[in-house]
Amino acid sequence: MSWTPEDAPWWTRAVVYQVYPRSFADSDGDGIGDLRGILGRLDHLAELGVDVVWLSPIYASPQDDNGYDISDYQAVDPMFGTLEDLEELIAALHDRGMKLVMDLVVNHTSDEHPWFVESRDPDSPKRDWYWWRPPRAGMAAGAPGAEPTNWRSFFEGPAWELDERSGEYYLHLFSRKQPDLNWENPAVRDAVYSMMRWWLDRGVDGFRMDVINLISKDIALPDGVVTDGLLADGSASYVCGPRIHEFLAEMHKAVFAGRPERLLTVGEMPGVTVEQARDFTDPAREEVDMVFQFEHVGLDHGPGGKFDVRPLRLRDLKASFGRWQTALADVGWNSLYWDNHDQPRIVSRFGDDGRYRRESATMLATVLHLHRGTPYVYQGEELGMTNAHFTRFDQYRDIETLNHVAVAKTVGTGSDEDLLAGIAATGRDNARTPMQWDGSPNAGFTTGTPWISVNENYPTVNAEAERADPGSVFHYYRALIALRHDDPVVALGDFTMLLPDHEHVYAFTRRLGGVTLTVLGNFSGEVQETGLELGELVLGNYPDPAGSALRPWEARVHRS
Ligand code: NOJ
Repeated sequence: MSWTPEDAPWWTRAVVYQVYPRSFADSDGDGIGDLRGILGRLDHLAELGVDVVWLSPIYASPQDDNGYDISDYQAVDPMFGTLEDLEELIAALHDRGMKLVMDLVVNHTSDEHPWFVESRDPDSPKRDWYWWRPPRAGMAAGAPGAEPTNWRSFFEGPAWELDERSGEYYLHLFSRKQPDLNWENPAVRDAVYSMMRWWLDRGVDGFRMDVINLISKDIALPDGVVTDGLLADGSASYVCGPRIHEFLAEMHKAVFAGRPERLLTVGEMPGVTVEQARDFTDPAREEVDMVFQFEHVGLDHGPGGKFDVRPLRLRDLKASFGRWQTALADVGWNSLYWDNHDQPRIVSRFGDDGRYRRESATMLATVLHLHRGTPYVYQGEELGMTNAHFTRFDQYRDIETLNHVAVAKTVGTGSDEDLLAGIAATGRDNARTPMQWDGSPNAGFTTGTPWISVNENYPTVNAEAERADPGSVFHYYRALIALRHDDPVVALGDFTMLLPDHEHVYAFTRRLGGVTLTVLGNFSGEVQETGLELGELVLGNYPDPAGSALRPWEARVHRS
């Protein structure tokens, strides 16, 4: 959007910090992070300078997918604490001038949610709250291929599960314990909206909406095109489905309209295109403030998918980000992220987590945060935390990874070594190892046994060490966040990509009211010449003054 510093929404100047509660801080020694653990670490967030905390799910849940399977939207899981703890957290964040955005997981519930439990009864009024269908015509329930469609679930296997009680199947795009809600039913939508209002009335400042662009399905439920075996990609029937804009506009009216402009909404949208994102985030349409798109985090996926990793080509990254910056320049808004609880650690992915860990983590941060959009920092990213570097299958906990391993082993393709290499590169547990607070046992995360191993590098990579070192990744993130707060050109300046074909240097300008920032990032461990004219140095990740060439993983921001 072409806002001015005077009329731009507050979140154009804001930085969001994601807390994955299970892995952040454990206050009671059960090995799992909790709300009181977060309350004990607010100084860290305040010192970093972030404006908003996005809290991954803390609701009652059987934890099949670490809380993204909710059995009660209006209760806190005892594992994380109580509603009173959450209210205390909201108040404590507000006292410090920070906001709290909750995760909203309403594409699906848990199969243990009372709505679904009731829905298993074919005569129940809740039957139509989920997607129940008989077996494929002419086939017996349970026979191979009898599922109502041939769609594959995101977590392997068919997206349909047979329920013996009625002999019908229910749809689950994720695990079989995550049945999809039927958004065609207005009673479902009303129940979701009233739950959202209940949270806003409790002081919550907005929502990060889990896979929200999957809620509208093509009601004909057509088969997808089979690529291998019996299963197919059904995404054409549910990614940004027929009624998605209608549902989000209706939600906006029912939940957000008339509320003060303090809120933030961000829709997680796998498969969203730039054109669609522009519509979703066009303020005039009143749907969501911004979306999480997935293009840049798919650039290192090979033909075999996310576990079939290949090196990033920097030109692809520039072409992708550049397209999003241009498409949302006049209408809409970007969110900017490298990491979250589903992605590997960026310093291990696109940087060098060995010799140049500090330099590459700060370079990647510079490039991301100087784009136009709202940056998201995932817990530990501000410390330059690295991938887990697990070497054994039994170290993994994530359902997606475990299901992938089980299927790969059944099919028998590839060696264990290749399988381990794939999951070590892109598995979601890379981001889920405990937050590294200090050099004490278990990195100060817990006094008990952590639910997943702590990264072995915690004696050197931890918050206490980073805070004590003025040249650390942590202090660099502080400077970047402060720059966005203080300098309107960072929030609102126009974006122009430079050197689009350079294989190692990422370069662009931001311009506003006669000020130009030139941003440079060296995506390599070698010295790179840029040939660019540069002004005064505003920020850089090397301590000594800059020459004309970029040193290994060097980042700089110049002003002219
Ligand atoms: C996206 C979430 O970020 C991920 O962790 C989860 O597994 C799926 N949605 C299903 O809720």
